[in-house]
Amino acid sequence: MSDSQGQTGSRLPTTIDTTKPHEARFYDYWLGGVDHYPADRALADEIAAHVPTIRNMVRNNRAFLGRAVRYAIAELGITQFLDIGTGLPTARNTHEVAQEVDPSARIVYVDKDPLVLAHARALMASTREGKTRFIHADLHDPASILNDPMLTATLDFDRPIAITLTMIMMYFRDADDPHGIIKQLLEAVPPGSSLTISHPTADFNPAATEQAVRACEQAGIPMVPRTRAEVEKLFAGTEIIDPGVVTLEEWHPELAEVPLFEVDPDAGNSWIYAAIGRKL
Ligand SMILES: C[S@@+](CC[C@H](N)C(=O)[O-])C[C@H]1O[C@@H](n2cnc3c(N)ncnc32)[C@H](O)[C@@H]1O
Repeated sequence: MSDSQGQTGSRLPTTIDTTKPHEARFYDYWLGGVDHYPADRALADEIAAHVPTIRNMVRNNRAFLGRAVRYAIAELGITQFLDIGTGLPTARNTHEVAQEVDPSARIVYVDKDPLVLAHARALMASTREGKTRFIHADLHDPASILNDPMLTATLDFDRPIAITLTMIMMYFRDADDPHGIIKQLLEAVPPGSSLTISHPTADFNPAATEQAVRACEQAGIPMVPRTRAEVEKLFAGTEIIDPGVVTLEEWHPELAEVPLFEVDPDAGNSWIYAAIGRKL
C-alpha cells in the first residue's frame, strides 16, 4: 500500500544496518555525498585501492545518466521515466534533469534501500506540472514494482516509458535471471519505450576488477562485471541505439552539460559500459 508521500508499506526491511556496507551508501561516498558510515567508507576505500579511478567512473556515470535522460526527451520524445536502483539523492537526479527540459515529465523511482526510502521526499520535489513518486521495492521481484498502484497512477502505460537501470544490474547474478527480469519490465511498457543501462565490466583490467569484485563479495555484496557482449544481451527485445554499447565517455559526449563534478581528464576511460535500447 502506498501513502500520499509515495512511500510503500512493503515487506522490505525499513531499518538501516550501519554495521554492514551498502551499495547506495559507498557509491554516495565516492560521489562526495554525506550519507555513509565507517563500514561503507572502509569498503569504498578498499575498492578504490584496486581501482584508483573509481571516483571518476561513478561521476562519469552520473553524467551519463543526465545525457541519457535528455536524449530520451529530445531524441525519443519520451517524458516518463521508471528509474530503478535510484540511489541516494545527489546532484542532477533524473527528475531534475527531465523536468528542466520538460516540466511535465513524470518519474517513478524505485529502490530497495531503506536509507533511500528515508530520502524519498527529496526525490519527489517535483515541478507543479510534472510528478515524481518513490516505490520501495526489490527488482528481484519485478511484479512488486509493476503491480504497485503508485506506478500506474503516475505513469501512463499507453505512452512510452524510459526504463532506467543505471549501475544496478551488476548486483544480479545470472542465476537471478536478469534477462527474465528485464523482459518482464519491457513487456509492461508500450513499443517506442526505451531501456537505459550502465554496467561495470572487467574487459579493460581483469586483474584489478577481480580484486574489487572479491572485496564486494567478501562484504556480502554480489558483484558481476559483464563483457560487452553480455551487456548487449541485457538489451534483448530492444534495438540498441547508436553508438551501441560503449564506455560511458563514448556515449553521446556532445550532449554533455557543464561538468557536475570534478573529473580527472587523465583518468582514462571508465570500466563501465552504457547504452540505450528502444523497444520495437
Ligand atoms: C550504485 S547505486 C546507482 C544509483 C543510480 N542509479 C546511478 O546510476 O547513479 C545502486 C542502487 O541500486 C539499489 N539496488 C541494488 N539492488 C537493488 C534491487 N534488487 N532492487 C532495487 N534497488 C536495488 C541500491 O540500493 C542503490 O541505491
